[in-house]
Amino acid sequence: MESKRRFNIWTSGCQMNEHDTEIMRALLEQEGYLWTSDPEEADIVILNTCSVRKSAEQRALGLLGNLKHRKKRDPDLVIAVGGCMTHNPEVRDLLINKIPFVDIIFGTRNYHYLPEFLREAESGRVIADDVDEDIPGVLPACRTSKVKAYVTIMYGCNNYCSYCIVPYTRGREKSRPLEEVYQEVAELAERGYQEVMLLGQNVNSYGKDLNGNINFAKLLEKIDRIDGLSRIRYMTSHPRDFTDELIETIAASQKVCEHFHLPLQAGSNKILQLMNRGYSRERFLKLTDSVRERIPEASITTDIIVGFPGETEEDFLDTLDLVERVRFDAAYTFLFSAREGTPAAEMSEQIPEEVKKDRFKRLVELQNKITLEQNLPLVNQVVEVLVEGRSKKDPERWSGRTRTNKIVNFEVLDDTDLTGKLADVQIISAQTWNLSGKLKKVQQKEGSAPFSRN
Ligand code: SAH
Ligand code: SF4
Ligand code: F3S
Repeated sequence: MESKRRFNIWTSGCQMNEHDTEIMRALLEQEGYLWTSDPEEADIVILNTCSVRKSAEQRALGLLGNLKHRKKRDPDLVIAVGGCMTHNPEVRDLLINKIPFVDIIFGTRNYHYLPEFLREAESGRVIADDVDEDIPGVLPACRTSKVKAYVTIMYGCNNYCSYCIVPYTRGREKSRPLEEVYQEVAELAERGYQEVMLLGQNVNSYGKDLNGNINFAKLLEKIDRIDGLSRIRYMTSHPRDFTDELIETIAASQKVCEHFHLPLQAGSNKILQLMNRGYSRERFLKLTDSVRERIPEASITTDIIVGFPGETEEDFLDTLDLVERVRFDAAYTFLFSAREGTPAAEMSEQIPEEVKKDRFKRLVELQNKITLEQNLPLVNQVVEVLVEGRSKKDPERWSGRTRTNKIVNFEVLDDTDLTGKLADVQIISAQTWNLSGKLKKVQQKEGSAPFSRN
C-alpha cells in the first residue's frame, strides 16, 4: 500500500497568510495528507509567500533555489507556490517561465482549492488563474495556538496606498456575512479559545459591501456578547476610518482589548499625501488624543515607513516629531521597498539606500527609548496576562500578553498548566521588548459549565 504523503507549508508575511496556512493545512489533512514540521521530510512542499517588500520575495526565491537541487535528486517531490508573490506580474512570469520545477502555482483567492490542484498536478503542471474569485464560506482551520484564534472578517483591500502591493495581490474588499463570522467566533469560544483576532487589511471597512446597516463597530458589539471568550483583537485598522463611534464601542465593550494599532506610515503631510493615506498629521494626533482621553490605559502601536520617494530630511524630522508627540508603545519600522506596479515605485525622487538606513536607525533608537519609557510605569502594577505557553527563550517561564498586547514573562512555580489561563501578574521589571513579573493569582473563570449563546 502506498504510504500517506507528507506535506509542509512554509509561511511568510502577515497574519492573513498565517491563517491561510492554517486553513490549507486543515484542508489537506482532511484529504488524508500528513503534516510534517520538517520540510526535508515532506513529499509536498508548499510556500505561502509574501510580496510586501522585496526582501520577502527574495527569501522565497532563495528557498526555491535550494529546492531545485532536491527536486533533481527526487523528481517525485511536489513543489507548490502560493500567496501574494504569485500575483506580482514580474514574479509570476518568473515562476511560470524560468522556474519550471514548480509544479503548482496558485494564489490568495483560490488557496482553498489546493487539494484539487494536488490531484491535477499528478498529470501535469498546474497554473491556477489569477482572478478575483468569490469569497469562500466557512473553511476548516488547523489552528497553531490553542489559546488565540485568527478569524478572517474580510478579504482584499481597496485603499491603494501608493507604496503597497496588497490591493493587487489580495483583490477587492469583500466582507464575510456578519452571522457567519459570529457563528465561527461562538464555536471557537465554545471550544475553549480565550482570544480571537479578527483579520482584514482594513477592518474599518467591514460591512460596506454587505446589505443592511452593518459596520465594524456593530460586529464588535455583537461578538463582545459571546460567552466564554475573554479577549477580542483586530488587525489592521486604518487611521483614516477610525470613527468616534468605534472608540466608544471599544470603550464600552468588555472584551475588545485596549490596544490600538494605528499605522502612521509617515509624519509629514506632504509624504502622507503622496502615500494616499487620506489623513494629515494633525488628524492622526487628534485620533490618538481621542483614544487616550476615552481609554487612558490604552496602548497605541504603529507602522512607519522611512525613505518614501521625495522624503527630505525635514519630512523625516516631521516623522520623528510625531513619534515623540504620540509616544507609541511600539512601532514596526520598515525601509521603503519599491514594488513594481505601484505608483510609488515610479516616483522620480527615490531615496538612496544609505540615507534610508541612516533614518531607519535614528527612528528605531528614538522609538526604543520611548517604548522603554512607556513600559517602566508598569513596574509594581498588577496586570492581567493571558498565558500562551512557555517562553520560547526560557522554558522555565510562562509567557503571555496583557490586554494592551505587551509580552509578560513569569516564573513557572509548579506542574499546573497555565496555558490559556488568565493570570494576575505583578510586574517587577520592564525591558523594551517584554516585561517580567511574578504570579499573584490565577483567575477562575465563571461559567465553565456549558456556554450559552446569545
Ligand atoms: N493593511 C495594513 C498593512 C499591511 S502591510 C495597513 O494598512 O496597516 C504592513 C505594513 O508594511 C504597512 O503598514 C507598511 O508600514 C509596510 N509596507 C507596506 N508596503 C511597503 C513597502 N512597499 N515598503 C516598505 N514597507 C511597506
Ligand atoms: Fe496596503 Fe494601504 Fe491596503 Fe494597508 S490599507 S493593505 S497599506 S493599500
Ligand atoms: Fe505580505 Fe500578502 Fe500579507 S503581501 S503582508 S502576505 S497580504
